[in-house]
Parts: sequence; structure tokens; C-alpha cells
Amino acid sequence: MVFRIRTYNNIAEAGLEAFPRSQYEVGASIEQPDGILVRSANLHQEPLPETVQAIARAGAGVNNIPVEKLSEQGIPVFNAPGANANAVKELVLAGLFMGFRHIAPALAFVAELSGEGETFEKAVEAGKKRFVGRELPGRRLGVVGLGAIGGQVANAARALGMEVVGYDPGITVEHAWRLASDIRQARSLDELLAECDVVSLHVPLIEATRELINERRIAVMPDSALLLNFARDGLVRRSAVLAALAEGRLGAYVTDFPHPELQGQPGVVALPHLGASTGEAEANSAVLAVQNLREFLEHGNIRNS
Ligand code: MLT
Repeated sequence: MVFRIRTYNNIAEAGLEAFPRSQYEVGASIEQPDGILVRSANLHQEPLPETVQAIARAGAGVNNIPVEKLSEQGIPVFNAPGANANAVKELVLAGLFMGFRHIAPALAFVAELSGEGETFEKAVEAGKKRFVGRELPGRRLGVVGLGAIGGQVANAARALGMEVVGYDPGITVEHAWRLASDIRQARSLDELLAECDVVSLHVPLIEATRELINERRIAVMPDSALLLNFARDGLVRRSAVLAALAEGRLGAYVTDFPHPELQGQPGVVALPHLGASTGEAEANSAVLAVQNLREFLEHGNIRNS
């Protein structure tokens, strides 16, 4: 039997190679696929062929796939949990340093410098005073969502001397301890927000987490707090963040989700959704998604790890 797999944009070559060609026909134009392999294409808008038995996403979040509708039809959706956790953790750490050491505005300042010799040096000396930063040891990081990525961020922050507080209503304290050592679990999101110098979001975007960080939640945070969002854009109400930054009720917002409303706003650093954009993470995610899809198509097993 030959399985037919429809692929969408941006699937790493390593993932495509994980389909043995004697058993699989793989391509973007396959009309009656048994399975679908997707990365960031939005499948909400598309009628899916009736032949589809399973869908796999070469990534962590599945908000580009109509999961609820598919599960009503008994069609499983697989992802690649943990495959990009290291890549995202590394960019979150970069975001932490960017926020605490004002790296983006400092680079912009240097890019604008002109003049030569002593004039140039004087301008550097005068300007650098605006970029006095904060160090990490002893500061408290709040990790919202203690899955594979949140767990890695928590461990890395501990290694940098930070105190870590976690919050994840979906997991037990024992599970959180297995993922990340030496972290305290907050009893509520508000408790975490009230006591942390930095808050990093690592929850999926679902109805319950949409605009999780809004006016009310920002009001609970210390005025100098740094908010990191490398999870999903919809977790944060942008208008609330911009108002708080303008009024000095939030220190900075570093996000992996640029938006026209954020352009040029003081206190905002936005990257172009680069969290999982490493060769390693793209390959790992694609291979894991393919393995999960094959396990189901070939053996009927639902394994999502
Ligand atoms: C993910 O969900 O795996 C990441 O956000 C990367 C992506 O969507 O491409």
C-alpha cells in the first residue's frame, strides 16, 4: 500500500526524507491525500479532502489547524512537541538580555551616530548613559506555561542565577519539577505577575488564553517589569501593553510577533517570529511530525512524542 501525503510550505528537507518513497507519495499537489504535513499554512480556511486520515504539524502550536472540528470527525492532529524547545529557549534568553540591557535601542543609537574622532567619542559617551541596564542574578522570572519550552527557559534562567516562579494550571507540581528544577509554583497567574521582574509566556493560544495579558493583568505587574512573548501574538492585548508603556506602568515588551501597531513604539522590541527558525529545530520538528504521522498511518498508533 502507498500512502499519499500532501505537504504545505516550509517543510524541512529532513522531514520529507523521513518518508520512505516505496511506501509514500509526497507533494504539494496531491489531491486525495491520506495525510497532511503542514508547517505555518492556515488550514482553517480550506476545505480538507474527505480522504484525510491524519494531519501533522512540523512545529509546536496547532492554532493554524481546525483541531476541534477534526477531532469531532475522529481525525487526529499531531505536532512535534519539544522539537524546537532549545531554539525557542535560546531566543527567549536573547530577548531577556535585549530587554535588560536595552540592546535594540542602543544599536539604533549607534546606527544613527555620525561625526569623527573626538566628536564621535563624545557622542558615544553622552549617549550610553541612557542605556544603563539590569543584571539577572537574584531577579525573579515568572514562566507562564511549564511545557517543554517553559521548562527549558526555567532551567536556563536558574543557571543564570535567577529565581524562577512557574504557573501552569494544567500540570502537577511533580510534573513541573521533572521539567525544571528548583522552581516555585505560583498559586495563581496574578500571584506570579505581582512578584516577577520578568514574565515569559509559554502557553498555547486557545480561547482560554486569548489576551491573557490585558489591562487588568498588566496593572498587577511591577512598573519596571519586562514582558516576553515568544509564544503566540494573541496572548497579549497590544493596546494594553502600549498604554502601559506610554504611562510608565511596564518596563518593556519583547515579542517574536511584529505588528504595524508596534512599529517604532518606545519600549517595544519585535522580532519576525524567529523562535523556531534554526536549521536544527526545523529539521527536528519535521522529522518528529513525520514519525507521528507514519506511526498512525502504518500502525494506527496515536503517539505524539
Ligand atoms: C511553533 O509553533 O512551532 C513555532 O511557533 C514555530 C512556527 O510556528 O513556525
